[in-house]
Amino acid sequence: MNVTIIGTGYVGLVTGACLADLGNNVFCLDLDEKKIAMLNRGEVPIYEPGLGELIERNVEAGRLTFSTDVEASVAHAAIQFVAVGTPPDEDGSADLKYVLAAARNIAKHTNQFTVVVDKSTVPVGTAEKVAAVLQGELAERFPDALQRPGFTVISNPEFLKEGAAVEDFTRPDRIILGADSDPMGEKGLALLRQLYVPFNRNHERTRVMDVRSAEFTKYAANAMLATRISFMNELASLAELVGADIELVRQGIGSDPRIGYSFLYAGTGYGGSCFPKDVKALIRTGEEHGRKLKILQAVEDVNADQKTSLVKKVFARYGRDLTGRTFGLWGLAFKPNTDDMRDAPSRMIIKELLLAGARILAHDPIAGSEALRVLRYDLNEWAHLLENFSLVAKPVDALSAVDGLLIATEWKVYRSPNWNAVKNAMKHPIIFDGRNLYDPETMRAEAFDYFAVGRRTAM
Ligand code: UGA
Repeated sequence: MNVTIIGTGYVGLVTGACLADLGNNVFCLDLDEKKIAMLNRGEVPIYEPGLGELIERNVEAGRLTFSTDVEASVAHAAIQFVAVGTPPDEDGSADLKYVLAAARNIAKHTNQFTVVVDKSTVPVGTAEKVAAVLQGELAERFPDALQRPGFTVISNPEFLKEGAAVEDFTRPDRIILGADSDPMGEKGLALLRQLYVPFNRNHERTRVMDVRSAEFTKYAANAMLATRISFMNELASLAELVGADIELVRQGIGSDPRIGYSFLYAGTGYGGSCFPKDVKALIRTGEEHGRKLKILQAVEDVNADQKTSLVKKVFARYGRDLTGRTFGLWGLAFKPNTDDMRDAPSRMIIKELLLAGARILAHDPIAGSEALRVLRYDLNEWAHLLENFSLVAKPVDALSAVDGLLIATEWKVYRSPNWNAVKNAMKHPIIFDGRNLYDPETMRAEAFDYFAVGRRTAM
């Protein structure tokens, strides 16, 4: 089938490449000429395991095209996926300007029945706004209603995780399709069902519902997962006070199938481009409807506290003035297997340590240069403090004569270090582990002062 994807960000690229791999002819549109030029040179602007090969293979096979040509992109397909960004506005609500601009462009050029598929995470009611834009533009272009091409807007939220996006797309738990129950909606739904046939071979994964429920489902899923994390982080801080071990508690409750094991890891707080933004946007939607979402507000507040919890442990050990002290930092990205620094807990950690006068030796397998870019922005008038922040090539290089090691991301490479080498390199054998990577007993036996999250350690 012919498919157009508008927006070659993370979601658009993965969707485009995976649909092309199934044999569809996919046209990816982006107005960013630099990005399209990069993609046409075979360079992938984001780090995502497996995505580069997938793009290369499908470009070579002629099934995947990247272009800035709006007219050609609209002419290419009856199915137009909108996968543009919805950055948070100042008040936390999702900014729809790119989504609505995409709708306008479709309506300006289409001459056939079109299914506009909202793939971007958009608040409840957005499909109606998109439909209004399409309706308005088309009515202007075709004053005679009988000549006017039909359209429908379908909500098809994505549930990809960064670092596992290709796998998540190819083996989805569910495909949510929110469609109107009028003839256009049904026609659009039939086209999408056909597109998604390969995912439903052994087991029907498609859930069809009304548009608003589909839009809501996406926020509800992310809000539920964020709630589980904040809940565990809150319990972890209590566990530290009462002398319980949150890891054992996690295993104890996760074994109940009603609870399950996923997303129960205490840590330095959730980051990334989705949970922080979507929790805020849902809170904002509640406010717009006169409903204060108390649980989600608490989820957000606990997360903000959690992001500073590791540094608080450093202060508890060394005091608030860290002048003359150096710390190693393992992990910068908001999670492993990505170079994404959006809302990464490491940003807060770095800022607080630098403001307290410390020097930092930081390691991350891939996020280093992206980290420097965002830190300049975070530190703003204190950007000169970046003199005290050095990126190092190997994990062990971040340990040279340091007063302690902080761990912010659970990259595999940090899981089984050579403890003797670690101890020999450090000035003080102290580890502040924000990801609970190590067994406290082992750390005790290795003579480390080990501070983890919600565990019985050196505290
Ligand atoms: C998340 C959802 O998991 C996806 O289903 C969704 O499609 C995506 O958002 C989106 O809306 O686009 P992602 O942000 O890529 O995916 O990353 P996650 O693996 O969910 O992790 C989010 C954050 O939660 C990370 O900072 C991670 O370290 C943290 N986390 C996760 C925990 O602190 N504890 C856990 O147990 C799990």
